[in-house]
Amino acid sequence: MKVDVLLGLQWGDEGKGKIVDVLTPEYDIIARFQGGPNAGHTIEFDGLKFVLHTIPSGIFNSNKQNLIGNGVIIDPYVFSKEVKQLNFKNIDPRKNLVISRKSHLILPSHRMLDAVYEKSKGKFKIGSTLKGIGPTYTDKVARQGLRMGEIFNNDFDSKYAELKAKHQQIINSYNYDPGEFKIDGLSFDDYEKEWIAAIEVIKDFEQVDSENYINESLKQGKSVLAEGAQGTLLDIDFGSYPFVTSSNTICAGVCSGLGIAPSKVGKVYGIFKAYCTRVGSGPFPSELFDDDGKLMRDEGNEYGSTTGRPRRCGWLDLVALNYSIMLNGVTDLVMTKGDVLAGFEKIKISTSYKLKEQLIDYIPFEDDKVKAVYEELPGWNTPLDGITGIGGFPEHLNHYIDFIEKFTKTHISILSIGPDRKQTIFR
Ligand code: GDP
Ligand code: IMO
Ligand code: MG
Repeated sequence: MKVDVLLGLQWGDEGKGKIVDVLTPEYDIIARFQGGPNAGHTIEFDGLKFVLHTIPSGIFNSNKQNLIGNGVIIDPYVFSKEVKQLNFKNIDPRKNLVISRKSHLILPSHRMLDAVYEKSKGKFKIGSTLKGIGPTYTDKVARQGLRMGEIFNNDFDSKYAELKAKHQQIINSYNYDPGEFKIDGLSFDDYEKEWIAAIEVIKDFEQVDSENYINESLKQGKSVLAEGAQGTLLDIDFGSYPFVTSSNTICAGVCSGLGIAPSKVGKVYGIFKAYCTRVGSGPFPSELFDDDGKLMRDEGNEYGSTTGRPRRCGWLDLVALNYSIMLNGVTDLVMTKGDVLAGFEKIKISTSYKLKEQLIDYIPFEDDKVKAVYEELPGWNTPLDGITGIGGFPEHLNHYIDFIEKFTKTHISILSIGPDRKQTIFR
């Protein structure tokens, strides 16, 4: 068996959570391989709505196993809140979720560092979710991070204190007033207390070595779906650096984030919105600043699932989409939120960029200097409510889909036309 992958092709929030939940019945195991609580994956069914940050989106199928891989970083405080949210609806993730011992812990002081770094950048800030992502991955690479498996060790408290003291030294050098920042509305001391209590919640979960767990499962004929977080254009190596996250969000991240060989990767589902959104700073060539952008934000409810920030909106960018398809080896495209464009008479789609008066069809190193060049297509200009099969699609939506498939040379095999599980059409 192989590991299929579903990951974002844009700047995140493409609808990964929804589609992973829809695909879960086809798999035995759903695994997160990178990122942390900067992710916010929304799942809606039976009139319920959940937002997951760390827990894989397969959790709502009680007969399926979920894994948080070694490449993920975990904030016990956020994790325990997710567990509570699920418990409240009578879902007990202790039964079908295991965690890699090698995943890294986000400490309260990592979150403080994130806030300090971001503030010191002034107008050049990244627009981080301030969940401690950058500082935690920094400590992992610097070989001084704390790993999940260590929470049972006698020296955990002293190692925690040692790392916190190192962070404090850095924070002090920034002329920073600790009283100035709150973490999720709490003072540092109150947050730390909750964080320590949350470690006890995590102790109830089985810990595994994800590399052995996954490879053994594959040998036994089990199928695995790896769930990406963020999006390809936020990748630490290939995104619009420095306005990126701190992990490899691309398909290669599955190998290092779960412990599988590249030859074990099967299908790669690449998910994109019928338009583009971005939260935080950084280049966005097809961004709209007019009423069309506002309409997308209103109709698509484009506000961050993790931070509530309004998302920047713009037309679909096929130059960027082709880049993402190339980096990930996408075998199947998934297009979400076509319903949001229902009110547009004309729809633009970026098919090239202008860089210093030259037309180009790739993302250049100076990615902040390009302007999107568009083709215009007729909008379908009709709501997609109630459509249950591709036979019911308006002509101009079919035309839009054909245009994208021809340009990307990749098949769109799933269409999502609303937030609910049921509003999904296979093609
Ligand atoms: P993720 O981070 O990729 O899982 O995406 P988010 O959950 O952050 O953002 C996607 C938002 O769009 C969520 O509010 C979803 O409920 C919603 N959504 C997903 N698919 C569709 C769709 O096809 N149409 C509409 N209107 N909303 C969708
Ligand atoms: P999901 O999985 C959208 C963005 C932040 C910021 C940059 C760095 O829900 O798609 P970080 O917190 O990693 O330091 O932020 O990346 N970002 C996301 N944007 N969706 C996400 O996750 C994101 N995770 C991080 O807004 O611009
Ligand atoms: Mg999201």
